[in-house]
Parts: sequence; structure tokens; C-alpha cells
Amino acid sequence: MNPFPLLRLLSHEHFIGGPALAAKLGVSRASISLALKSVDELGVEVITAKGKGYQLGRPIAWLDEVAVARGLGAQRRFFDLKLFDEIDSTNTALMAAAHAGAPSGQVYAAERQTAGRGRRGRRWVGELGGTLMFSLLWRFNLGVAALSGLSLVVGLAVARALAQLGVPGVQLKWPNDIVCAEGKLGGILTELSGEAHGPSAVVIGIGLNAGLSQANRDQLDQAACDLVALGYAGDRNQLLAAILLELAELLPAFEQHGFAPLAREWEAWHAMQDMPARLLQPNGEVIEGRAAGVLADGCLRFVTADGERQVHAGEVSLRRAP
Ligand code: BTN
Repeated sequence: MNPFPLLRLLSHEHFIGGPALAAKLGVSRASISLALKSVDELGVEVITAKGKGYQLGRPIAWLDEVAVARGLGAQRRFFDLKLFDEIDSTNTALMAAAHAGAPSGQVYAAERQTAGRGRRGRRWVGELGGTLMFSLLWRFNLGVAALSGLSLVVGLAVARALAQLGVPGVQLKWPNDIVCAEGKLGGILTELSGEAHGPSAVVIGIGLNAGLSQANRDQLDQAACDLVALGYAGDRNQLLAAILLELAELLPAFEQHGFAPLAREWEAWHAMQDMPARLLQPNGEVIEGRAAGVLADGCLRFVTADGERQVHAGEVSLRRAP
């Protein structure tokens, strides 16, 4: 039995009995207790008390299409949102849908990804109820080559959305990490397809830590922080709507004018702007220098003792100098 409809019935505030759950879902009590045994691996704590029933160990504000549509207001016409309880990866699935002709503005959001992907072939692990994970398909008349600054534009949309929601201390790290002083808040994975001279399609995948449990934080391979720690009291629906609203404004502007008019604003969000930094090359080579800014195509201007380099996002990674 799919445990998600069952989990949605549970509350953090009070116990619900097995018979009541079974009746609501039209299944046997045995199916209920079996399904609840499997939720451990989803990272959800369900408290069981004899004679009382079941209760969630922490509150979960589930993704909800109606709440996102409300947040989008009139702009909802640009988007078609599909929610998944569980999916391999919203990016992988939406790429396949794009090849099959899905329209611009299609959004896939998921409570859980079994094969979430990050940049540079890494895995991306989100927390059920704690991470916002979604992908947006956007079609451009531009050729793929003209889209090189796009992932920075997406970072800008997230930064603007978080500012709009009153979240302080958010910054961007070239090329497309969303960070705060304590570590990484989220990341962006953009995947392009199309012709050199257009049209083209991009799947924009965003993973953002809304509220992480300590257990999950400890499992991550790098310092992470979440929006709750920055004082965000809202839910992931509000967050999703706010980011889509910014994308609805920025993506058409980018299609018309490119990244150049946005580059200075992007630099103002950059956590390493004008700071001593290190570039880690895929071959292990480390280059010392200073992050001087970004170019119209999204390349990083990196000043070293030997002069300025223009660095493509590709496989490199930017680190703060120790
Ligand atoms: C990174 O920082 O390496 C990028 C992380 C991108 C994760 C998101 S979660 C939604 C979408 N689906 C995926 O499989 N990846 C992106």
C-alpha cells in the first residue's frame, strides 16, 4: 500500500486510531500497520501508542496544488503544476515529458525523490516534508548557445523570491548554489535540449532546504542550512509559488535581453564577490585568485597572479580561500 495517503491523514498534534485510518482509506487495519512499518525508510517518524493509535513525530506541511495556485494568483496561467508523492527525479521525469511534447510552464514537484540528481553527477538527497524539490520546463525560441547565463538567472529568481518572503542572509555562490553563512541552502540543476539556433527547452531543477532535521543534516557531505534557521516560518507551497513568480518575470526578460542586464544584480548576491577564492579543477588542480564578477554568458571572471581567466561552470567548483 502507498503510505502517502495514510501519512497525510496523520497529525503531529493528536493520535489517530488504526480503525479510523483503516475506515477512511477503505483498507484493513493490518494494511495500515504494515504500511506504517515502511515509513521509517521515508525518514518519517510515526509515534505509536497502544490504545491511542498513531501520531507524526514532527509536523509535515504537505505540498498542495491549491495552495500553490493561490500563491501564484493571476500568474498561475503560466504554469501547470503536477505533484508527485514519489518519483525518481523531477528533472529526469520532466526531461522525458519535454521530449514527449510537454508545454512550457509544466512544473513537477515531489515529496520524495528516489534518484535525485545534483550538479556534476552527484546525488541529491532531500528530506520528506523538509526540502522543496521541483523542476520547471521552459521553452525558448533561442538556441542552446544563447542560454549559457540561464542558471545564474535562476539563482537570481530564488534569491529575489527569498528576499520577497523576508528571509535574510541568503546569498548565491557561482555558478548556482544558494547559500547562507552556515552552508548550502539549496542548488539548481538546469538541463538543456534543443537546436543550436533554436528552439530550445530547459528543465530547471531546484532543491531548497526549507526545514531539515538534525539527523539529515548530519548525513550530508557538506555544511547545510535551512530556511527555518533563517527565520522563515512559511511553508513549501508559499516558497514554490514565490520562486515561480520570480521565474515568470525573469525568464521572459532573459529571453529578450540575455543575462547582461542582470549581471550586476547577480554580483550583489554573490557570496564571494571580490573575495580571495580557489577554483577546484576536475583534475584536482587548485587555482588561487579572486572572484571578480560574472560576464554576460555567466562565466566567472577569476583574477589570478597571471591575469584574468574566464571560467565556464562546467566541472569546476569555487571555494572560499582558507
Ligand atoms: C546541486 O546543488 O548540485 C543541484 C541540486 C538540484 C536538486 C534538484 S531537486 C529537484 C530536481 N530534481 C533533481 O533530480 N534534481 C533537482
